[in-house]
Amino acid sequence: MKKHLETRAMFAGYRPSDAQMAVKPPMHPASTFVFPDARTGAAHMETAYGVEGAETPPEGFIYSRLGNPTITMAEQRLAAWDDSEDAALFGSGMAAISTALLAWSDAERPVWFVGPLYGGTHHFLEEVLPTMGRSVTEIDHLDQLDPTLEDLGGQRPGIIYLETPANPTMQIQRIRTAAEWAAQHSTEDHRIVVMVDNTYLGPILQRPLEQGADLVLYSATKYLGGHSDLIAGGASGEADVVAKVKEFRTFLGGTIDSWTAWMLARSMETLHVRVEHQQRTAGHVLNHLRELCGAENVKSAWSNDLATMGQDVATAEAQQRGGGAMIGLHVPGGREGAFAFLDALEVFKLAVSLGSTESLAEHPASMTHAGVPAEVKARTGITESFVRLSIGLEHPEDLVNDLTHAWKVAESVATLAV
Ligand SMILES: Cc1ncc(COP(=O)(O)O)c(C=O)c1O
Repeated sequence: MKKHLETRAMFAGYRPSDAQMAVKPPMHPASTFVFPDARTGAAHMETAYGVEGAETPPEGFIYSRLGNPTITMAEQRLAAWDDSEDAALFGSGMAAISTALLAWSDAERPVWFVGPLYGGTHHFLEEVLPTMGRSVTEIDHLDQLDPTLEDLGGQRPGIIYLETPANPTMQIQRIRTAAEWAAQHSTEDHRIVVMVDNTYLGPILQRPLEQGADLVLYSATKYLGGHSDLIAGGASGEADVVAKVKEFRTFLGGTIDSWTAWMLARSMETLHVRVEHQQRTAGHVLNHLRELCGAENVKSAWSNDLATMGQDVATAEAQQRGGGAMIGLHVPGGREGAFAFLDALEVFKLAVSLGSTESLAEHPASMTHAGVPAEVKARTGITESFVRLSIGLEHPEDLVNDLTHAWKVAESVATLAV
């Protein structure tokens, strides 16, 4: 009988018999690996470089930029959580995202993306990728796929890229719509690859591959790592989709290092426990915030809030296993009120990033999304009064008290300003 996900993920990528029956995997810091003989070395290297007529090498490692036993162990653990054929780990979420986008796009394979996206991804797509010979088109909504194809004279995309729920505004995209459209418009020599950034919920709460996505991307710095003590990224999916991403990783050089991979693998053992607890606490905090601040000022990927925001609740309920632990809040008094609110927090730490054991708060308009054009911020609701909260593992009452105090401070700042 196939074991449950949590059970499979616990030992994914490692058997105690691999390392003298140690219950936990060792960490391999080696940068390079000894070839048994020159012929095998040549087979490894010529295959890695795609040299015609190369001999197929035996299983084994060459050099840690291409992979090593610790990295493979952590990759297998991510693949287990996603139930994917393979996964690739990187030195950051941006390394994973930029490498995947470069791997599957070229002059004949434009990128279409549905905003809003994480600010760094948005910047890479709008400012960097076009300088590398890729055309990039933003579409407002997935119902615009057909009209976009017509506007672009029938040129199909190589990639459809989305993030759902979006950081930080919680817009929901129906992954299946993108996947079905991509399947209909793909041909043998032109596969349209649907990529989904699943950082905000992670594999416990949302499983994009089961909704038809081809590649799921992560800032593993967030829930997968989840302790604010490492920077990493991940890409997970079908073996041939990931293989191309790994090929580009070899030459762009964004591979994760062994120590970080080991830490990440360790963190992934508690992923479900952390995320489920954080989600429960977020539910408690949200109930309180809707009362205190007015439901119209609260944003989250929970059904109640999505309904207030006019978002597609049915889609969220179909593709998510809960609303997660991220909250957006419109604070009175514009930027001044938002800053007073953030400065008044004591339990929440004022820092960018999210998905960690400690609760964090930040001001997207001037911090994580500072580089997003003003027009895009206005269109997507990243206003001066908007703050983002990431719920950690502290006691819910302490979080509620902290937020209540900060809200009152912001209200008094807003009243003084009138
Ligand atoms: C949704 C999302 N995707 C990607 C990234 C980039 O990840 P990293 O900071 O690990 O490069 C972030 C970072 O905040 C993010 O929030």
